[in-house]
Amino acid sequence: GEVSKGTYPFFMLKEIDEQPIVMRRLVEKYTDDQHHVVIPEDLMEALQQADRLYIVAAGTSYHAGLVGAPLFEQLAGIPAEVHVASEFAYHQPLLSKHPLFIFLTQSGETADIRQVLVEVKKQGYQTLTITNVGSSTLAREATFTLLLHGGPEIAVASTKAYTAQIAVEALVAKAVGEAKGLQAAKEFDVIHQLGLAATGQQALIDQKDRIHELATDMFKTTRNAFYIGRGGDYYASLEAALKLKEISYVQAEGFAAGELKHGTIALIEKDTPVVAIISDPLTAARTRSNADEVQARGAKVLHIAMASQAQKGDQIIVDDIDPLLAPLVTIIPAQLLAYFTSADRGYDVDRPRNLAKSVTVE
Ligand code: G6P
Repeated sequence: GEVSKGTYPFFMLKEIDEQPIVMRRLVEKYTDDQHHVVIPEDLMEALQQADRLYIVAAGTSYHAGLVGAPLFEQLAGIPAEVHVASEFAYHQPLLSKHPLFIFLTQSGETADIRQVLVEVKKQGYQTLTITNVGSSTLAREATFTLLLHGGPEIAVASTKAYTAQIAVEALVAKAVGEAKGLQAAKEFDVIHQLGLAATGQQALIDQKDRIHELATDMFKTTRNAFYIGRGGDYYASLEAALKLKEISYVQAEGFAAGELKHGTIALIEKDTPVVAIISDPLTAARTRSNADEVQARGAKVLHIAMASQAQKGDQIIVDDIDPLLAPLVTIIPAQLLAYFTSADRGYDVDRPRNLAKSVTVE
């Protein structure tokens, strides 16, 4: 039947809240009593034979793909590249000998992806669709399908599908790496990590009111904003900025923290909001100094830091998790910041102007 938003003012807030449940549901759906990840045998074979993965997606799902590629590389030992579907369809790069295509798509209906599917099918390649909608076009037409089990996502701005996509990528990468006997995969306890994600997400959801205050402080009247980070924190920054743009119409950019100084820092003025995402131990200190640089030029800076990297004065602390999965938690405050900014400006959070939930034109 119809999905109801219950007591929530908007579906987006409900869907943000559902993310810990979805993490736990995915562990249930994808693992057995022996704590092994279970994916169909024929898909497992195809993945083990692949010499390169081409992850193709659009919008938020593209950002989930960016997080997935290093998971596949580091856990499963398969080189992976991520492409925007509308670009790939007409400007196909030189492919490896045994490519496998992964289509990440909440709706399973995105026309730009379908165009890629049609093309690579013609070329005889195997395809995997990871989607929230089992009856969708891309689910039906791909060689293999895996489900996100997120339950219907109604708000146009995607939240739980993004975190579900990352979780499924982690589960699949773990399964393949373990089957190949790779040490990194054996050491990566995906069930434990997704449990950490669920509790970490919940801890942030429980701080909604405080995050609301920070949203007011940072974004109440601004016309522009930046998110910065490195590695996984950069990928999370791209998604964080997209959330803010989509529903609050703030011109927001996600930026590789180290690249900011090569041009874009020119845009920093007094009180320009800059959110620094600091979770990756390899680069935490560097991102922090990039944040200090913009602060010295007048920016209003907010730190979202992982507990083990946190310092006094950081405004939002997120629980520790494997750095490969950090976006599962660091994105939660960003989703909430976008949500409250939009709601406070009086916008229809679930139905932002000019946007559609699924885009069936190229
Ligand atoms: C539309 C939506 C976005 C979504 C993108 C890809 O533009 O507004 O929220 O990320 O399509 O959708 P998909 O269903 O393929 O994940």
